[in-house]
Amino acid sequence: MKTILITGANRGIGLELARRYASDGDKVLACCRNPQEATDLKALEGVKVFQLDVTDGASVKALKADLGDMPVDILINNAGINLEPQSFEEMDFDKWEETFRVNSIGPFRVVQALIDNVKAGKDKKIVTISSKMGSVGNVYYGGAIAYSSSKSAVNMVTKILANRFRDDGIIAVPLHPEWVRTDMGGPGARISAEESAAGLRKVIAGLTLAESGRFFQYDGEELPW
Ligand SMILES: NC(=O)c1ccc[n+]([C@@H]2O[C@H](COP(=O)([O-])OP(=O)(O)OC[C@H]3O[C@@H](n4cnc5c(N)ncnc54)[C@H](OP(=O)(O)O)[C@@H]3O)[C@@H](O)[C@H]2O)c1
Repeated sequence: MKTILITGANRGIGLELARRYASDGDKVLACCRNPQEATDLKALEGVKVFQLDVTDGASVKALKADLGDMPVDILINNAGINLEPQSFEEMDFDKWEETFRVNSIGPFRVVQALIDNVKAGKDKKIVTISSKMGSVGNVYYGGAIAYSSSKSAVNMVTKILANRFRDDGIIAVPLHPEWVRTDMGGPGARISAEESAAGLRKVIAGLTLAESGRFFQYDGEELPW
C-alpha cells in the first residue's frame, strides 16, 4: 500500500486520481480548499481529506503540522486554474498573477513544506500536473497567455526540484494529462477524467530516476520543454 497526497482532489482529474488510488487500496491524502463542500471526495473509502489552499502559506503549514513525519510515497501537485480573459487584446493582470500563485508557486510551496515526507516515502515521486500548453517547444495555441506561461514556469520549478533532489533518490516530473473533460477542459475535450487518470497512474507507476526532470504526457509520450 502506498501513500499518495493529491492537491485539488475534490473534482476533475484530482478526484479521479483519488478514486483510482483509493479503490486499489492505496492510502490517499486528499487535499482540497473546502472539505465541507467536497461531497464526492468524502464519499470515497480509504481517503483522508485535508484542507489545503496552495496559495496560502498558513494552510500549507497546517497541512504539514497535521501530517507530521508521515511518509508520502507520491506527491501529486494537481490543483490548477485557467482564468479568462488572457489574450493579447484583453488581459486581466490580477488574474494572471493569481494563476501564477496557484499553478507555478503553489506546487513549490507544497513541495518545500513536505519534502521530508517525500524523502521518507518509498517511491519518492513528485508529480506536477502541468500542461502541453506550457511547452515552449510545442506551442500549438496562440491564446491562454497567463495559463501557458504559468505552466512553463512550473515546468522549470519541477526541473530544478529534480536536479536538487536527484541524490536523495527523488523523481520529479511534470505530466500533461491530455485535454480532459472536466470543469476546466469543458465538455468538448478529447478524453474523460477516467481515461486521463488511468494513463497518469500508469506513467507515475513506471517512473524511474532516469526519467526525473523530463516532461511526459498521460500516455507516456515524452514532450519537448
Ligand atoms: N482539463 C484539462 O483539459 C487539462 C489539460 C491540461 C492540464 N490540466 C491541469 O490538470 C490539473 C487539474 O485540472 P482539472 O481539469 O481537473 O481542473 P478542475 O476540474 O477545474 O479542478 C481544479 C482543481 O484545482 C483546485 N484548486 C484551484 N485553486 C486552488 C487552490 N488555490 N488551492 C487548492 N486547490 C485549488 C480546485 O478546487 P476548487 O474546487 O476549490 O476550486 C479543483 O479541485 C490542473 O493543474 C490543470 O491545469 C488540465
